[in-house]
Amino acid sequence: MTDAAITTEIPCMSFRPGALWPGNHGVHINAHGGGVLFHEGVYYWYGEHKIQGEAGNKAHLGVSVYSSRDLYNWRDDGIALAVSDDPACEIVRGCVLERPKVLFNPRTEKFVMWFHLEPKGAGYSGARSGVAIAETPIGPFNLVNSFRPNAGVWPMNVAESEKHPLSADEFARINAMELNGGPRPYYPKHALFRRDFAAGQMARDMTLFVDDDGRAYHIYASEENGTLHISQLSDDFLGSSGKFVRIFPGRFHEAPAMMKWRGRYFLITSDCTGWAPNAARISVAGNIFGPWEELGNPCLGTGEQIAHSFGAQSTFILPVHGKPNAFIFMADRWNPQNAVDGRYVWLPLEFHHGAPMIRWRDEWDLSAFEK
Ligand code: GAL
Repeated sequence: MTDAAITTEIPCMSFRPGALWPGNHGVHINAHGGGVLFHEGVYYWYGEHKIQGEAGNKAHLGVSVYSSRDLYNWRDDGIALAVSDDPACEIVRGCVLERPKVLFNPRTEKFVMWFHLEPKGAGYSGARSGVAIAETPIGPFNLVNSFRPNAGVWPMNVAESEKHPLSADEFARINAMELNGGPRPYYPKHALFRRDFAAGQMARDMTLFVDDDGRAYHIYASEENGTLHISQLSDDFLGSSGKFVRIFPGRFHEAPAMMKWRGRYFLITSDCTGWAPNAARISVAGNIFGPWEELGNPCLGTGEQIAHSFGAQSTFILPVHGKPNAFIFMADRWNPQNAVDGRYVWLPLEFHHGAPMIRWRDEWDLSAFEK
């Protein structure tokens, strides 16, 4: 029996970051790279369903959904979005389907899921966004589309002089020139969004965020992971509105998680080192389209904890319903050798000097927010 299969029937009354976290069936929760939707008194936790071993880094079943009223005890509601057995389907079994996030759209009254999709057999070269829709929060979700976002649209925050597409030849020339330059040789500083103008922008690690005015945003690692894009969604949340910005070009932020507190937007991200943990970063803006400013590392603790973000990588910031200053930082402690045994690191955000920060706790409960 693997660790992940150890069962217990005792209800949870606290969070134990990094420990096994049994759902109602007594099996470790299987919702990695996840996000949480609060809807009509219930929290829904969506995440990547993983299987044992390295094979678990690919999608074999799809996106899981769990539900809870107290955030400690989660009921397994099954597979919200199932992969397909049809080789022609974009989400065929064996594709890479990561970091799913779900929103409720009040105009259409549908639940809308976005995720990072890598078509089967093509490594991470696809860099596509998948969109699926459902009538109920637990699904079944049906795939609507998959694409690279913002095809044919220029970012709002680039100079007019940069708004011209690149041919493959021009791109190859610039790429070769810049190979001699920066620390990450595959990053041509000014060319990637221009190269991808016509076919759409690369979109890997991602999150969704809804602002107070009901506008939703897709935040994704683009341009070979070198640059984040913040892209406003259309009214039905099924596509982009045509407004997007590039932020932190060449800084390689991944694993974005966004929140808003006292009128300011905060973005917690990681560096770009695959499954291995690295130092988290926090950034702030007064306007979601920027300018954005990096503040540094939000983790508090020992040198090791700060350098590797408690062994975890951000996935979502969960606002606790009804508590204006209560936010839970959600992160994954990946286990790529045995993907199903990835652990969840949920920690309360503390506010210091006007910004959220994260401190390790072996065990905590929601009363942490009363203090
Ligand atoms: C990480 C990313 C994960 C996954 C992994 C694959 O950087 O955050 O979601 O894509 O790379 O190596």
